[in-house]
Amino acid sequence: MEPVLLECRNVAKKFGGVQALSGVTFAIRRGEIYGLIGPNGAGKTTLFNVLSGIYARAEGRFFLEGRDLTGLAPDEVAACGIARTFQNIRLFANLSALENVMIGRHVRTRAGVIGAIVRGARTRAEEAAIERRAIELLDYVGIRARANDAAGSLAYGDQRRLEIARALATEPRLLALDEPAAGMNAAETAALRRLLERIRADGITILLIEHDMRLVMAVCDRVLVLDYGVPIAEGAPAEVRRDARVIEAYLGGPIAGDVAAAGAVAP
Ligand SMILES: Nc1ncnc2c1ncn2[C@@H]1O[C@H](COP(=O)(O)OP(=O)(O)O)[C@@H](O)[C@H]1O
Ligand SMILES: [Mg+2]
Repeated sequence: MEPVLLECRNVAKKFGGVQALSGVTFAIRRGEIYGLIGPNGAGKTTLFNVLSGIYARAEGRFFLEGRDLTGLAPDEVAACGIARTFQNIRLFANLSALENVMIGRHVRTRAGVIGAIVRGARTRAEEAAIERRAIELLDYVGIRARANDAAGSLAYGDQRRLEIARALATEPRLLALDEPAAGMNAAETAALRRLLERIRADGITILLIEHDMRLVMAVCDRVLVLDYGVPIAEGAPAEVRRDARVIEAYLGGPIAGDVAAAGAVAP
């Protein structure tokens, strides 16, 4: 069995009276595609926000390859090897696809983000290397032809691929994707599936939030199910979809149909 890459211990997060997460404990092995599912409002995105340093004051601890990242700022977490995409796409709409990826790359360079903005003479050679790598990444996710187009003008599925390229530019150990198939048609989702498998084959572990149950069942090695912020099941997709608590959590929920379509429940 592969060693643990990410470990979460008792992560909890409260918003006023809403306990968005509580007692979230799990471990992701190196090389896994680990799914995170649950009805809307279950706390999935909140967990990503904790793991990416946005909620530095959440309770609990999390470790990447044994290193405690709890309480670090987002740029520090990124530098340690966790990259994420956003459920609501966050690209610089007026910048080109290429520039959006180059911005992601700067977390790995000496000159850093400030250097990227100031563009001093010392950074020019580095800048050329960053551009070459960014083009490679656009090619890798399949949108190299769009390199010079404004990010905001790309088709929705291509914007999601661009977000993945930008996240990969930070050279993560763990790539966390928040509903990457949202808004994609069947062909785009199939291409996304191949991309996820390729990313994993290239040595990057993936944490996947996804409502498309067919995709989850097809690519995930294991799945953690959250309901009202609490883990209710963990295991292989085929086991989890037979779990009585999981079926109950999804019944009547907005994605019950998706689960049923994947053969999980017959309400
Ligand atoms: N920034 C926030 N402020 C207040 N409440 C929030 C915030 N973010 C999320 N919540 C609440 O936390 C719960 C979990 O939300 P979220 O993590 O977005 O769920 P999911 O991604 O699983 O749909 C929901 O009840 C949501 O309304
Ligand atoms: Mg969400």
